[in-house]
Amino acid sequence: MTQNSRSYHLVRSGETNKLICSDNAAPKPDHHQVLIRMGAASLNYRDLLTRQDITSNRAGLIPLSDGAGTVVAVGSEVSQWKEGDRVSPNFFPNWHGGAFSLTYPAKALGGGQTDGVLSDYIVTEESSLVEVASHLTLAEAACLPCAGLTAWQALFERGGLKAGDTVLVQGTGGVALFGLQLATAYGARVIMISSSDAKLERARNFGAWQTINYRTQPEWDKVALDLTDGKEVDHILELGGPDTYNRSIAAIAAGGRIAQIGVLTGFALQPDILPLMFKNASINGICVGSVTHFERLNRYISDHQIHPVIEQVFGFDDVPEAYELLKSASHFGKIVIDLS
Ligand SMILES: NC(=O)c1ccc[n+]([C@@H]2O[C@H](COP(=O)([O-])OP(=O)(O)OC[C@H]3O[C@@H](n4cnc5c(N)ncnc54)[C@H](OP(=O)(O)O)[C@@H]3O)[C@@H](O)[C@H]2O)c1
Repeated sequence: MTQNSRSYHLVRSGETNKLICSDNAAPKPDHHQVLIRMGAASLNYRDLLTRQDITSNRAGLIPLSDGAGTVVAVGSEVSQWKEGDRVSPNFFPNWHGGAFSLTYPAKALGGGQTDGVLSDYIVTEESSLVEVASHLTLAEAACLPCAGLTAWQALFERGGLKAGDTVLVQGTGGVALFGLQLATAYGARVIMISSSDAKLERARNFGAWQTINYRTQPEWDKVALDLTDGKEVDHILELGGPDTYNRSIAAIAAGGRIAQIGVLTGFALQPDILPLMFKNASINGICVGSVTHFERLNRYISDHQIHPVIEQVFGFDDVPEAYELLKSASHFGKIVIDLS
């Protein structure tokens, strides 16, 4: 029997895209594909940028990259998955492992020409999937593909994090909270910076070693220097962009690593390159991660029984409100859509 599938689509309206809901027949899996009944999806800052982008998205694009669900049918050649498996598609469906290729971004879920996961049913290649960790709900698993994997790649795959290292994380959104949880579980000391004392209080409850309010203490790089007895920090998850970059360079320790991840304050940047050079520090460009990285993240999450931090779960009909909450930046951790 053909299933009905509700989806949201981005449709151009003036200088932005409207979210339009539609009902269609569920897609059918091809030979190497899997049909997934999505249980949940989550939003990322990228989804705000995608919604605002009226030039590069296909008309009618289904947004959101992050989701998790249950396999309900498999193509004739599928060997890895069966009905009932709980799975999550990788942000880059065709980056299975090894070095990154510039061909991957065009296929990233929920942007450009490639439909995302804000749908009851999706089909995807079997090779793009990872198994959901057994201690997670589908809502929790839906938080991992972009935010969790980005923090994982930054700290572990590229950052070479060691127990006892100091990590500075900017803000208290999705990537930031994963940075806090993943690094703390490894025995690193995490300094969180946020615009809000209330959010910093919550971050301390999740294990933050030190916290700095970047509104009341805008020279947070100097505060970080004091907190580390002048040693400065070994890793920074750089999420801010132009407004935070030079403070990150000032706060990074000799030989430290800045993970270049975010653009929260824009794209145009004139970095202060001299201190970076004199400190022998590195900037690692980070773009989410591969299926292999995602599998390793899930093993780690499972070993440490980490539960993603969810601010709020919205129903399917309330997706526009979920976008508004993300835009307000008042959230702590992740915003989830229940598709079950
Ligand atoms: N390169 C990649 O692969 C990749 C992957 C994922 C995300 N990203 C990027 O990483 C950034 C974060 O993404 P997200 O989805 O985690 O965002 P998010 O959940 O929307 O988090 C946004 C939070 O960042 C904080 N923030 C805003 N301006 C700040 C500033 N000037 N200094 C420090 N913190 C600031 C605020 O937290 P407070 O209220 O606590 O201050 C805000 O709530 C975005 O730019 C996104 O595009 C990149």
